[in-house]
Amino acid sequence: MKNFTNVNKAVFPVAGLGTRFLPATKAQPKEMLPIVDKPLIQYAVEEAYEAGIRHMIFVTGRNKRAIEDHFDTAYELENELEASGKEELLATVRSLTPDDMDCSYVRQPRSLGLGHAVLCARSIVGDEPFAVLLADDLMCGPHGGPGVLAQMVEVFRQVRGSVLAVQEVPLEHVKRYGIVAGEPAGDRLVKVERMVEKPAPENAPSRLGVAGRYVLTPSVFEAIRQQPRGSGGEIQLTDGIAQLIGPEGVYAYRYEGKRFDCGSKQGFLEASVEFGMRHAEVGAGFRDYLRGLDFS
Ligand code: G1P
Repeated sequence: MKNFTNVNKAVFPVAGLGTRFLPATKAQPKEMLPIVDKPLIQYAVEEAYEAGIRHMIFVTGRNKRAIEDHFDTAYELENELEASGKEELLATVRSLTPDDMDCSYVRQPRSLGLGHAVLCARSIVGDEPFAVLLADDLMCGPHGGPGVLAQMVEVFRQVRGSVLAVQEVPLEHVKRYGIVAGEPAGDRLVKVERMVEKPAPENAPSRLGVAGRYVLTPSVFEAIRQQPRGSGGEIQLTDGIAQLIGPEGVYAYRYEGKRFDCGSKQGFLEASVEFGMRHAEVGAGFRDYLRGLDFS
């Protein structure tokens, strides 16, 4: 394998239909649903930027125009805000796409699975390591510490092999995740020996579930391309990564921080409450409101 150290590109698969959030997602992308005042996709892009990544690649689909618009310049809005002296809001809007950030968009023409979505970004990523972020999973680093992807990029520099974010999940939930098993390889690190997508509890090799953050070597593209359809009849990213275990080594990293599964209503509500409580502008008032609630 080549001696890569820097991770400069991130892939955001955002073509999914978001059926779990219908009717909210009938006419808008699920990645644009806000937690307090920022859409999910923006949290993921900010996490990638914080990890040193400057080229964001969105794998989009039909009905996803709002994501492109979100990261584009909004001249009319900016002129309005400027004319009415709303400097703070203007700065907020402009900060969405810092000058040193590039965005590319590629379409996933058919819903053939996460592996297929990542493969759609192949020609833009080229022959270098890259990150994959699933915006449904809202990840928070430890208070005052680095974000989850920044932690993983650091691990990647040390191990020089693909790194997957993992967490312990309850046995009855293993069927929702890619599950990995292997040998301890250092603090928070497991050298992966087996990997299976959404196993039944009785077939799960462990309870270590993959959260939606990956740092991958470019050989994963060829591995995905050779995959037959897997779990759910889809081309799975997990199956492609599993092919790298022998030739390159794959590492599972128990990240520091917290994950909110915003692909589920419960997770989305939990994130809204926790981010609401911490929010600079509305946090204090919201906490007061929660204290006054009658839970009986
Ligand atoms: C995807 C992956 C799965 C991973 C999960 C994390 O599944 O296929 O391996 O554990 O994301 O959120 P999905 O949630 O898209 O079904």
